[in-house]
Amino acid sequence: MKNSLTVTDNRTGKSYELAIQNGAIRAGDLRQIKVAEDDFGLMSYDPAFMNTASCTSRITFIDGDKGILRYRGYPIEELAEKSTYLETAYLLLYGELPTKAELEDWVYNVTIHTIIHENIKKFIDGFHYDAHPMGMLVSTVAALSTYYRDAKSIFDGESRRRQTYRLIGKMPTLAAFVYRHTRGMPYAYPDNDLSYTGNFLNMLFKMTEVKYQPDPILERALDVLFILHADHEQNCSTNAMRSVGSSHVDPYSAVAAAAAALYGPLHGGANEEVLRMLTEIGTKDRVPEFIKRVKGGEGLLMGFGHRVYKNYDPRAKIIKRVADQVFEVTGRNPLLDIALELERIALEDDYFIKRKLYPNVDFYSGIIYQAMGFPVDVFPVLFAIPRTSGWMAQWEEMLLDSEQKIARPRQVYLGSPQRSYVGIDQRKAR
Ligand code: ACO
Repeated sequence: MKNSLTVTDNRTGKSYELAIQNGAIRAGDLRQIKVAEDDFGLMSYDPAFMNTASCTSRITFIDGDKGILRYRGYPIEELAEKSTYLETAYLLLYGELPTKAELEDWVYNVTIHTIIHENIKKFIDGFHYDAHPMGMLVSTVAALSTYYRDAKSIFDGESRRRQTYRLIGKMPTLAAFVYRHTRGMPYAYPDNDLSYTGNFLNMLFKMTEVKYQPDPILERALDVLFILHADHEQNCSTNAMRSVGSSHVDPYSAVAAAAAALYGPLHGGANEEVLRMLTEIGTKDRVPEFIKRVKGGEGLLMGFGHRVYKNYDPRAKIIKRVADQVFEVTGRNPLLDIALELERIALEDDYFIKRKLYPNVDFYSGIIYQAMGFPVDVFPVLFAIPRTSGWMAQWEEMLLDSEQKIARPRQVYLGSPQRSYVGIDQRKAR
């Protein structure tokens, strides 16, 4: 079997043989297909990158038809059961599970970078009390770039490592401070005796007690949720991270861009929308009417559907189990019954079956977050914290990939041909 594709250009009758490598042809090879010597050459047109690989990657594998997700080859189910978020972050970044000494060193370095400069509090203080937490997070992450001038040395491995510690260490602190600002509560400083998620809960919920003790079940549940959200190959925000990072900007600015992409309701903002949707539906008996409206084109069933998964999102399965553990501590969130009914009806309905629409990671995560005491508009922030390790891993892979250059897609121009400028007095009303 020959690993190539032969195409015939019917405009010229010429045939071309294009190499196939790893199940792909190189779009650049199409450029040799021309009708004349001065022709630009053939391009591929692929809005929204539906069938275009923009990179090679060794980080995350997804088989959307089979519902498989693996980080560096390890199934997500095993990591969710046996690993911790920081260990998984190490795996994503460095390609292998750490030894005991490597893990200790990694956890130590992330932990000592949890403190933020006091001035950052002034930025947060400057936001209106009802500013969206994600808007504040995006802005303050971008502001971090002004504190770490060494971050511009993106081809210095030591500098990249330092910025990685800082970003992974500081994201929970920024997120917690942003949350407390919306509540009018004094900021609670990091407690480096606690685990990554234990400390996050401390910075969020500490009141007047001298030492905050996180509930171990909630601490572990949040850690599992963080593992599930750590990376997801070339999704919208990761593509933003790579694309913005390809201009060789510092990683804080690139993470701000990625977080901005995550903010959108079709991406990380979906968990927030799911909660609003469930609250609006209100009771189980109103589910059939809501499904009817979705099928009639009146909005989407938020938390359903995925560009890659055409099967049950494996993360949603794990989250359903985590929900049971969390509800044992917090009490059952009544919205769960509406969600279960939505899932039951949707999975039996031809509209959803035909389009292969299944619950995605956001369908159940919001219900857990709400039960844990998080306000709805903090949900996307809870997504951005763990995804930072994935963004950083993908960013570094992009920087070290000799095939990558500044990301700059082509376009198919359909606008006006050349025309001459018309003076304002001569222009006709449209
Ligand atoms: N509810 C109802 N119908 C849907 C939904 C949904 N949630 N998702 C897709 N469809 C329909 C579309 O209307 C379309 O129907 P048509 O063929 O009759 O036009 C068909 O299913 C295919 O959908 P596309 O929009 O083409 O699929 P795409 O891959 O572009 O979109 C996306 C994927 C954005 C996730 C989409 O399913 C969606 O908007 N879902 C709701 C938002 C959501 O939950 N986002 C979170 C995704 S997970 C994450 O980012 C972490």
